[in-house]
Amino acid sequence: MKKARATLDRVLSKAGIASRTTTREWIQQGRVKVNGRVVKNPDFWVEQKDTVHFDGAKVKAGKKVYIALNKPTGFVTSTQDKKNRPTVFDLVQDLGRWVFAVGRLDLDTSGLLILTNDTEFGELLLQPESKVPKTYYVKVSGVVTGEQCTQLESGLDIGRGERSGKAVVKPVRATEKYSWFELTITEGKNRQVRRMCEAIGHPVLKLVRIRIGHFELGDIPSGKYRKLEPRDLSRLLGRK
Ligand code: URA
Repeated sequence: MKKARATLDRVLSKAGIASRTTTREWIQQGRVKVNGRVVKNPDFWVEQKDTVHFDGAKVKAGKKVYIALNKPTGFVTSTQDKKNRPTVFDLVQDLGRWVFAVGRLDLDTSGLLILTNDTEFGELLLQPESKVPKTYYVKVSGVVTGEQCTQLESGLDIGRGERSGKAVVKPVRATEKYSWFELTITEGKNRQVRRMCEAIGHPVLKLVRIRIGHFELGDIPSGKYRKLEPRDLSRLLGRK
């Protein structure tokens, strides 16, 4: 059953206007009206029959939006950057909606990044209990041995008192200098793949996230995104 009332900050964030923290600021600045009157209390209860305006525009019930971005290297996964580097949000400006990134990819990692305004879906995808597998295409220096693949698969000490859990390695190819393989993990520790590869003595040279659950990055061009449909969301969660 739909909730008949919600706090004013929630109504605005659910409508995809901005995060709850930001909407609270805007409400306190007097930019929001309920039934024609300025309300500065973000915790004000709004009933379904009420009309809400933000900066003079009527707030419509939030339509959920989900996108898959092919993140290029050189873009940070945060809204602002102290060093003024480009952010992934610069790449989705034409959406005209507030979205957040579900998890993050390092500056030097490229590939599949999900952005949405659906906080519940984002949390579901991220929470460790969901055990959603994430697959990376990895290029490392040196030749990775069978024994080292087993180490990656069994879990190993990745420093700072942390261990990686079980993983799956699929070798792709190797030359005298480099090895390429797919690595699937179900956790999201900070810089996990890089730390796993460092732990076996093969620093990462290139890292691309190619799959989340059963959803493939596919042919989305670098720096571009595509909107997702309900069946894509099931795939992301690992359901076929
Ligand atoms: N693991 C990493 O080391 N970096 C990423 O960006 C994602 C996973």
